[in-house]
Amino acid sequence: MTRYAHITGWGAAVPEKILTNDDLAQIVETSDEWIRSRTGIRERRIAAPEESTATLASEAALKALEVASISPSQVDLIIVASSSPEYLFPATACLVQDHIGADKAGAFDLSAACTGFIYALNMAASQIRTGAIDTAVVIGAETLSRLVNWEDRNTCILFGDGAGAFVLQACEEPGGVMSAVMRSDGSGAKLLMLPAGGSRYPATTETVRKGMHYIQMSGREVFRFATRVMAQATREVVEKAGLTLEDVNLIVPHQANQRIIDAAARGLKLPADRFMVNLERYGNTSTASIPIAAVEAVEKGRLRPGDHVVFVGFGGGLTWGALLAQWSGPLAERPARRVPEIPRLHRARGLMRRARRFVEGLIWGRYPDEK
Ligand SMILES: CC(C)(COP(=O)(O)OP(=O)(O)OC[C@H]1O[C@@H](n2cnc3c(N)ncnc32)[C@H](O)[C@@H]1OP(=O)(O)O)[C@@H](O)C(=O)NCCC(=O)NCCS
Repeated sequence: MTRYAHITGWGAAVPEKILTNDDLAQIVETSDEWIRSRTGIRERRIAAPEESTATLASEAALKALEVASISPSQVDLIIVASSSPEYLFPATACLVQDHIGADKAGAFDLSAACTGFIYALNMAASQIRTGAIDTAVVIGAETLSRLVNWEDRNTCILFGDGAGAFVLQACEEPGGVMSAVMRSDGSGAKLLMLPAGGSRYPATTETVRKGMHYIQMSGREVFRFATRVMAQATREVVEKAGLTLEDVNLIVPHQANQRIIDAAARGLKLPADRFMVNLERYGNTSTASIPIAAVEAVEKGRLRPGDHVVFVGFGGGLTWGALLAQWSGPLAERPARRVPEIPRLHRARGLMRRARRFVEGLIWGRYPDEK
């Protein structure tokens, strides 16, 4: 039986507080006109003191589970992709696992900067296809407002806070995640980084004095890299799935900059309306930008069951990647197609093991592993 990894639930969580470009112009030397014309961003969300990457991630995860109509106890694996995790360790995913009560789930964080959600989706889908797990929750969550230098107009205008989550479930009906492309070029590591706080530059008064605990970015170089890889990764992932660009109903790109998305559309010779864009309201929410935009696409009827959707992104690392999926819907709506529960598979494997040991016992006179 072939197993497929379907996206069966989705949810987003964003802080209530809105920071507009005009608000930013009170903090650094900039203007609404400059930010809008260079990035397309009008406003972004900023986490309240009591909110954190884990609380936003948990909220998004619970919403996604509700859409999928499954309980936290049914989750086998939680992956949180984040550029602003709660701690170096433990993993934010473990905190989410506890918050949502996913008492049978493994949990880990994945670090691939803004491409993290695509990497994490691909990891979860692979686990499901091999039969290792049945159900995963994949989350992109950020509180980047805590890591930007609010005196650096090159970066503080770009980023925002929020989280988005997908539930992935095994199903024998073809569909779900069809292909993925994951790439990196570590020679560009310094173009976008947060230098201090890790083992290379542990936090000291000196690192704090130099602002090394803030996001640092070479905007122009990142821009050039992004415009180069977005169209390329999209073409690659579509080809890998055995489809053509005409088969793709919607592209949900990483929401970093309208000009980067426009360049990708030009490179692919696709109309702008094939792209889901909501960065004007959230800014760049790193790993969360793709699921937040996807949730809005579903809510607006731009992403429907059966549609082919490409998620494509880029970010620090440097990393970039794309994933093509046939959009599903809650599995509860087609119970006949569910795969057998994992315990039943285990039972079948257990019987096979006992039969083999019985035959080996006949040959060797005893079970081979008996002392
Ligand atoms: C950051 C970015 C918007 C800057 O736009 P740009 O057109 O490349 O602008 P430049 O960096 O060339 O700067 C042009 C001028 O505007 C100034 N400037 C920079 N930020 C400014 C701001 N917020 N307000 C007003 N002026 C600003 C610069 O100082 C520069 O002035 P100078 O020419 O006197 O030195 C753009 O490079 C970008 O989006 N890069 C990709 C970043 C990204 O997506 N990062 C996340 C990846 S996941």
